[in-house]
Amino acid sequence: MPLRLGVMASGAGSNFEALVDSFRHGSLCGEVALLVVNNRDCGAQRRAERLGIDWELHDHRLQPNREQLDQALVQAFRTASVDLVVMAGWMRVVTPILIGAFPNRLINIHPSLLPSFRGLDAVGQALAAGVTLAGCTAHLVSEEVDAGRILVQAAVPVLSGDDHASLSRRIQVQEHRILPLAVALAAQG
Ligand code: GRF
Repeated sequence: MPLRLGVMASGAGSNFEALVDSFRHGSLCGEVALLVVNNRDCGAQRRAERLGIDWELHDHRLQPNREQLDQALVQAFRTASVDLVVMAGWMRVVTPILIGAFPNRLINIHPSLLPSFRGLDAVGQALAAGVTLAGCTAHLVSEEVDAGRILVQAAVPVLSGDDHASLSRRIQVQEHRILPLAVALAAQG
């Protein structure tokens, strides 16, 4: 069955574009049916315009609380008949309203080898800790932040001389590889 994927993004949107590429030229069957952004004119929105993907702005600043924002997202994804949703750099904490609407079908990508370095600036945390292996994790979303069931991980070495930018770039290459794998796994249940 072709998959209808929803994607949520706040920033540059490179993971969003990697998912679109996987549908168009890679292993995934279906399409990204809807991108939701919370920051107007973010990179993800501009990529959607270039790629011809439907997108909607849901600005969290215009909602009274997290629950109302998530309710609006659920409505948008249901209207777009989305089967599965990926948080691809969504910089907001989500609530049981969104999690419960897509049980085992809401995925997040996080730039660390979870359960290490949950939360903000995982790459900075890894550098500060002096680990020699960093990486990324695609996981199901649970109410506890960055703690849901792990679907796919990839490890990358931390090289001497690495800074935040160089390590982030190496991790992102792997994010773009494992996120479509995680989507395929979650779609198979
Ligand atoms: C990724 O590094 C992801 O792990 C984190 O946010 C970043 C999003 O990057 N959650 P992009 O917007 O997909 O380029």
